[in-house]
Amino acid sequence: MALSLSARLPSCSSSVFEKAHKVTTQPPILPFPSNLAACGCTLLPASMGVARRRRQVVGAVEEQHNQTSVLAQKQSPSYSSSKLVLVIGASGGVGQLVVASLLSRNIKTRLLLRDPSKAISLFGLQDENTLEVREGDTRNQNDLDPTIFDGVTHIICCTGTTAFPSKRWDGDNTPERVDWEGIRNLVLALPPTLERLVLVSSIGVTKYNVLPWSIMNLFGVLKFKKMGEDFVRSSVVPFTIIRAGRLTDGPYTSYDLNTLLKATAGKRRAVILSQGDKLVGEVSRLVVAEACIQALDLECTKRKIYEINSVEGDGPGSVPEKWRELFESAETN
Ligand SMILES: NC(=O)c1ccc[n+]([C@@H]2O[C@H](COP(=O)([O-])OP(=O)(O)OC[C@H]3O[C@@H](n4cnc5c(N)ncnc54)[C@H](OP(=O)(O)O)[C@@H]3O)[C@@H](O)[C@H]2O)c1
Repeated sequence: MALSLSARLPSCSSSVFEKAHKVTTQPPILPFPSNLAACGCTLLPASMGVARRRRQVVGAVEEQHNQTSVLAQKQSPSYSSSKLVLVIGASGGVGQLVVASLLSRNIKTRLLLRDPSKAISLFGLQDENTLEVREGDTRNQNDLDPTIFDGVTHIICCTGTTAFPSKRWDGDNTPERVDWEGIRNLVLALPPTLERLVLVSSIGVTKYNVLPWSIMNLFGVLKFKKMGEDFVRSSVVPFTIIRAGRLTDGPYTSYDLNTLLKATAGKRRAVILSQGDKLVGEVSRLVVAEACIQALDLECTKRKIYEINSVEGDGPGSVPEKWRELFESAETN
C-alpha cells in the first residue's frame, strides 16, 4: 500500500518532533537487573516525566541541528535528492530520528511500516515526492516484494522488539522473528543495485553466553541479532552494521531502563566509535541515527561493523568530515 502525504517538512521543527514523540508508552513488564544497565536492550516503559523528557529531546535535536546542519549541507554535496533511502523500523525510537533527519536534509525517503497510518501521526503531512510510505512486515517475505525496493539506493534498518516478553511480542513478533527471520528476509529480497544497507544492532551480540549479557539474552535477543548480522555479512550486500550501546534519549517507545531513569538528553553528543564488541556503555538515539545517516556515504564504512557509545560533551553533530574521521579512526581503536 502506498500512502501519499502532502506538505513538506521544512526542517527539524519542534512540531515535527513533538508529533514524533507522541508515542504510546507501555506498562512495566519486568524489573531491570541493575547489572544490565550497560547491556543495551529494551525492557521497561516510560512512565514518569515523559513530557519533560520529550521537551528535552526536542531541544536537543533542534540544538544539534541548528549547530551543524548548515555546515553539513555545505560540506556534503552527497546530500542530494539522488538518494532514495528506505527506512525500516521508522516508527521506532531511532527510526523516527533517522526519518526526521533525512527529511530535514531533503533526502527522499520511503518507509516500510507495519501500520502505515503511523506515518502521518509521526511525521506530519509530507509531499509524496519526499516521503513515501509502504505497508510491510519484515517477517513476511511476501511483503518485501521488488516494488518496495524500486529506486531505493540505500536502506537504514532499525527494526527490533523487546528483549523480554511484552505486548510488543503480540502476534509472535519475537526477537527470533524480527531480529533473525526479518533480517534474513530483508537480505534475500535486496536488489543488487543497492548501494548500502545500514543495520542497527546491539553491543554484546558476540558475548550472549557470558554474564551479564546472558541474562539479557534469556529469550535470545542477542543471539538472534547476531544471526541476523551474520546473514548480512555472509551476503554480497554492501552493509554497515552499527552496534548500539544501551539507548538513551527519546523518543520513548521502548521498554528500556532509560525511560525510568531519565535521559541526559542532548548532552551525550561526544561519540565513541570502535570496531569489535568491547563497549559496555550507553548511546544517545540521536547519535545512533546520525551515525546511520553518515555511514551511508562513507566508502570506508562499507562491509564494516562498528560499535557506538556516546558520552557527555560536544560531538561531531552532523558534520560529515568529523564523522569520517571517527569512522576511520575506529579501525585502529
Ligand atoms: N533499547 C536499547 O537500549 C537498545 C540497545 C542496543 C540496540 N538496540 C536496538 O536498536 C534498534 C533500534 O532501537 P529502538 O529502541 O529505536 O527500537 P524500537 O523503538 O523498539 O522500534 C522498533 C521498530 O521496529 C519496527 N518493527 C518491529 N517489528 C517489526 C516487523 N515485524 N516488521 C517491520 N517492522 C517492525 C517497529 O514498528 P512497529 O511500530 O510496527 O512496532 C519499530 O518501528 C533495535 O534493533 C534495538 O533492538 C536497542
